[in-house]
Amino acid sequence: MARFKFAGFLLLLVLILIVTGCSNDSSKKTSTAAGSKTTGLSADEIRNEAFKDLFPLQYNSYKKNEKMEDTKYGGSVKRSKYDPDKEPLLPILFNGYGFATEYNEDRGHVYALKDIRAVKRITDKSVGSCYTCKSTAVPKMIKEMGDSYWGANFNKDIWPKGEKMGHSPIGCSDCHDPKTMDLRVTRPSFYKALKAKGVDVSNPTKNEMRSYVCGQCHVEYYFAASNSEVTFPWKKGFKPEEMYEYYNTIAKEKGFEKDWVSNISGAPMLKAQHPDFETHLSGPHGKAGVSCADCHMSYERVDGKRKISSHWWTSPLKTMQTSCGQCHGDRDLDKLKDRVMEIEDTHMKALHEAENISTSAHYYVNKMITSGVARDKIKQAQEYVRKGQWFWDIIAAENSAGFHNPQGSMDSLRVSIEESNKAIRLATEELVKKGVSIAELDKEIEKVKKAVADEKVNEKKKDHAVNSYFPAQAPVVPATSKK
Ligand code: HEC
Ligand code: HEC
Ligand code: HEC
Ligand code: HEC
Repeated sequence: MARFKFAGFLLLLVLILIVTGCSNDSSKKTSTAAGSKTTGLSADEIRNEAFKDLFPLQYNSYKKNEKMEDTKYGGSVKRSKYDPDKEPLLPILFNGYGFATEYNEDRGHVYALKDIRAVKRITDKSVGSCYTCKSTAVPKMIKEMGDSYWGANFNKDIWPKGEKMGHSPIGCSDCHDPKTMDLRVTRPSFYKALKAKGVDVSNPTKNEMRSYVCGQCHVEYYFAASNSEVTFPWKKGFKPEEMYEYYNTIAKEKGFEKDWVSNISGAPMLKAQHPDFETHLSGPHGKAGVSCADCHMSYERVDGKRKISSHWWTSPLKTMQTSCGQCHGDRDLDKLKDRVMEIEDTHMKALHEAENISTSAHYYVNKMITSGVARDKIKQAQEYVRKGQWFWDIIAAENSAGFHNPQGSMDSLRVSIEESNKAIRLATEELVKKGVSIAELDKEIEKVKKAVADEKVNEKKKDHAVNSYFPAQAPVVPATSKK
């Protein structure tokens, strides 16, 4: 009987090997544990297709990233962030910078190369750093070029080099060692920043790796003043106020003061980038040790047989049963979804309010400048505008509509509103002294917001943000810095 069971087990094993398409060639036996078996692939393999026959289940799951389907606030359809139901004020808030020309919602990893090639923010002046989170060729390029990679010309040097190397958009080799399939971090900026913060990165746990592989790209960053190197502003912490403090001290001392100057208020501005990692770590799930992969790569049964980690990186609201159900199985998942929507609706309402006040603050400062208010008052108001915008942008640029850290996001938006209101109050005091009609100013602000919203062509929206009442304050900076 025992022997029969064993034979049955062997038969099952053989069947599993057949259905999962494991190769008979022992040199190609696959093993993800740090065991002795290797894939037979070269350590330098960067083409996704090279992994296809070895790992058909994960590869097929990865191919699902081609799907385009939206949720209420997230999802995978290529959409402009300027759309009326998204964030229509952005062409004003980023005026003078490439993000006022084109800015889209994120979508599946498989589109990363296509999207960076097409986006109008990339110009002949863009640098290699813009390519860093898009392509499997990056680790090898950094190895070959050293620190000259970061500042190399995107169109002339980096893109053609990547094509020649046979690059794939974000792929297997970005997170796995092609020989052993062990998880790995391939972007040097990530460990560099954690080390600077005092985190020991010599031997991360498997659970940490399940977030680290994502954290190498889904983070806030800037390009260092000296060599355009992708740098994460983490030394003082992951919270919006800690990163802001970093920018005003450490980054400034090293020559980085701003991403651009607002064309409306003349304020030196910072552009925030997708801090999913930082926001998640500071939120309830991150604090409880839940990893990105727990929700975004939950185990799924494929062909009703084998369990694999889903490689379809998308909104977990599409896969709540496997994503959330593994831990919240005791809760009614429809009710849990209602809870998520409640969080997101409240969040988006506060976000829009913060954006609206931030926008008005820019125009109030514009009026201070054209009304001849004293320099030091203008400077003070510009500082409030810069800070107010940072505290909403670091939340707006995050991708979870508040879910990764509901409380932290609301706190940041509250600071944003406070700071923007300080600018408006200071401006009001000074403008009244100059005899400016605040009622008229408010009317002009509403007019200009409407003109931007009414323009149908996305790239032209920014042109309606300035007019004879609100003249441009700064030369337009081409989109050379951030993607
Ligand atoms: C507890 C579950 C959970 C964890 C852990 C988690 N997320 Fe999310 N994530 C979500 C939910 C829910 C959304 C909102 C999706 C929506 O609104 O459609 C989301 C949204 C996103 C989005 C935008 C998706 C889209 O459809 O546009 C990205 C990108 C993302 N998360 C990345 C990460 C990264 C990186 C980590 C780890 C640092 C992480 N998430 C950790 C649940 C999670
Ligand atoms: C963005 C990072 C990332 C990319 C890209 C990626 N993987 Fe994974 N992969 C993971 C994570 C995280 C796990 C879970 C590992 C763990 O918990 O031990 C995993 C697990 C696996 C496993 C182990 C079995 C399983 O399903 O858990 C295989 C095999 C695998 N991936 C193959 C691939 C292949 C093939 C590709 C390219 C088509 C790929 N991966 C791309 C992050 C990635
Ligand atoms: C090499 C950089 C890189 C790594 C590593 C990476 N991502 Fe992404 N991710 C991106 C970029 C870039 C996009 C946007 C692509 C686009 O819009 O063309 C994106 C988009 C996404 C989206 C949005 C998909 C949608 O449908 O809207 C999710 C969700 C996501 N990533 C989750 C993850 C998770 C979870 C991990 C870790 C397991 C991870 N990513 C690792 C760079 C990366
Ligand atoms: C790996 C386990 C794990 C997964 C996966 C997970 N959660 Fe959680 N979740 C937790 C833990 C643990 C807490 C409690 C955190 C704390 O102590 O505040 C929590 C708390 C929450 C809360 C806040 C408290 C509450 O009851 O209102 C919500 C909402 C929530 N989870 C929703 C989700 C959703 C939606 C998903 C899927 C996208 C998800 N979780 C996936 C473990 C998980």
